[in-house]
Amino acid sequence: MSLTAKRDRKRILVTAGPTRENIDPVRFMSNHSTGVFGYAIASEAKKRGHVVTLVSGPTALERPKGVKFVAVESALDMMRSVMREAKNADCVIMAAAVADWRPRKAAKNKIKKGSASVKLELVKNPDILAELGKKKGNKVLVGFALETEDLIKNALKKLKAKNLDIVIANKLSKKSAVFGNNPAKIAILDRFGAKEEVRAGSKARMAQIILDKALAFNI
Ligand code: CTP
Repeated sequence: MSLTAKRDRKRILVTAGPTRENIDPVRFMSNHSTGVFGYAIASEAKKRGHVVTLVSGPTALERPKGVKFVAVESALDMMRSVMREAKNADCVIMAAAVADWRPRKAAKNKIKKGSASVKLELVKNPDILAELGKKKGNKVLVGFALETEDLIKNALKKLKAKNLDIVIANKLSKKSAVFGNNPAKIAILDRFGAKEEVRAGSKARMAQIILDKALAFNI
């Protein structure tokens, strides 16, 4: 039996992992995201009996059972899938590390290493969360802010700019302490000015706290 009564069951869309932006058929640009945080949130939401969709960039993680899984590669792929899946969602939690830029045009053939340098022109990817924020409706929108400095100030800026309900501020001090299966230290800020500093804990524990907060929002 599920933990959540049918009337309290929500449709939760979670994104996770990095995106890959192709340079040519064998190379891509990406980032250090492992997907652990997003997968932990999706698993916890499923455990509580909610209807969960996980849109994920490439990761080495096992797909959580009982969750609708949508595999994507690039930021543009993720954008398309998220916009489609978000139509039916009560809550969207964007834990994915979407690449901010992509090569203007992926080369059709492998770029040969003949020349001493290669110029890559990068163009901005769409901000998926900001797009969701423009037509938010009753959806609860949760974003992440990974910052190296001015954590709270920068996180609040994102909350406002992207019209979010909640932003999870995550301080990046040492690369190894944030990416992967390491304890996270976060602060949860909401659109009403509430600020909760969460003591360091596993990402599974953080996932519980984030879901408690998101589901307490008016949905
Ligand atoms: N995000 C998104 N689409 C993008 C980039 C980010 O939806 N193209 C989402 C992430 O999933 C995350 C939040 O926005 O929830 C984080 O934004 P971030 O990339 O940290 O901030 P930026 O707005 O890109 O600002 P900056 O690079 O200045 O930190």
